[in-house]
Amino acid sequence: MSTIEQHDALAIDGGPKAFPKMQGTKRPKIGVEEFLSIAERFGFSAEALERIRLVVADEDLGAGPTLARFLTARPEAAKGEAFEKLARETFGVKHALACNSGTGALHASLVAVGVGPGTEVIVPAIGFFATAAAVVVAKGVPVFCDVDESLGMDPTKIEALVTPRTVAVAPTCVMGAVPDMDPILDVARRHRLAVIEDCAQSPGAKYRGRYMGTLGDLGCFSISAYKIVGGGEGGLLLTDDEGLFERACQLAECGGLTRPDRFAPPRYPGELFCGTNYRMSELEAAVDVVQLRKMPSLLRQYNRNKRTILGQLKTYRQIVPQTLNDAEGEAGYMIRFFPETVELGRTIAAALNAEGIGIGDFIWPAECSIRGPEAPPDWHVYSYMFPVVLKTDPSGAGCPFQCPIYRERGGHVEYRRGDCPVADDLFDRNVTIWLDPCYSEQDCRDIARGINKVLSAYCTEDPEGRKWLP
Ligand SMILES: Cc1ncc(COP(=O)(O)O)c(C=O)c1O
Repeated sequence: MSTIEQHDALAIDGGPKAFPKMQGTKRPKIGVEEFLSIAERFGFSAEALERIRLVVADEDLGAGPTLARFLTARPEAAKGEAFEKLARETFGVKHALACNSGTGALHASLVAVGVGPGTEVIVPAIGFFATAAAVVVAKGVPVFCDVDESLGMDPTKIEALVTPRTVAVAPTCVMGAVPDMDPILDVARRHRLAVIEDCAQSPGAKYRGRYMGTLGDLGCFSISAYKIVGGGEGGLLLTDDEGLFERACQLAECGGLTRPDRFAPPRYPGELFCGTNYRMSELEAAVDVVQLRKMPSLLRQYNRNKRTILGQLKTYRQIVPQTLNDAEGEAGYMIRFFPETVELGRTIAAALNAEGIGIGDFIWPAECSIRGPEAPPDWHVYSYMFPVVLKTDPSGAGCPFQCPIYRERGGHVEYRRGDCPVADDLFDRNVTIWLDPCYSEQDCRDIARGINKVLSAYCTEDPEGRKWLP
């Protein structure tokens, strides 16, 4: 055999490799600069960043982090896994799916329970537009249910809204408070409706000792920066039901990455359908795993502070406190009450602000306030949820409201202010006092004294008035 022939031997046959080693200098795809960019976003000073750079620059990151959750060289480091595991343990559920938004978790849950053309979902008149919007995105039609003085869905008003098209009810926690779940679950069971809890505004709240999000069929959470628990943009879906979980995964991760055998044909009829990608990023999961670990103690602080303050408040003829369906379980990051008139509420809110009470900055800068009827539109109440109530859709075809399947099933919906009169009234006529989880006992005493001081100046003390705590 000639020398040339020897050199041409294939590596697979024992010849030399054509590309034994890369000559260029290898650099990881993601490295120290990306890490420092995150540190910069956290707000570290230029000096601190320089010191961090010195410490981490010499670290050998090898091929570097890929920040891939699946198909990664270091699955043990994957934060998405860690976050879901912690969520399962914290909430005591069988399945948890980390999503990139609460809206994504809602959409996946709605599709999982069978929301689609020709179906309706009962949603609360107060909450956030995302709940109703997710129904529309799933091609169902939202039907608004009025609220009670807890600002949660009024259980006594659900039954009248149930039709042969109703497949689910989606009770929503409103700003730390919890809806009255027992009667809601009761109506749902009697009518065989799925229950999807939207706990975006009360992560970690409990009802009768059980975590919100674990009472119905599926629980959905937003854990975005605009919530008391959460990093940037994130969501979480919980369920005990394996079938619902697989359907939710199919919608939220239609690249098949959550399947045991990713590209395998359907394991059972109906397993596979086209979904989208609501996968949580590893960077978000890295923050949220820490946030979730802090959640129980954060909730205890909030709840303890709120009850300490409420326990010291006097009762007044002109003031109706928000009903607390579970005073010990709710998240408790705000105190709300309904003054007899909006004018009275405005006077009280201004006086409370002047006392330094009700001002919060844990999530965003906020102060004690009341809306009033002339306030600008707000997508937290049904009548202003324009993308829903105007029944528009991006294609112009009128789906799902004009959908022939919906029509054939007798479906027709109109939305008008006045449909849910209690929500119309209470949304505009509630005073909101923001609380901080870090108040000391003395802070709580001072705040209670300040609220009593202001209310006593403008209202009539009445020992028979509505109590702040049940
Ligand atoms: C009640 C409720 N549901 C759903 C969402 C949507 O969550 P995300 O912004 O994470 O999609 C929010 C967000 O504000 C919310 O308040």
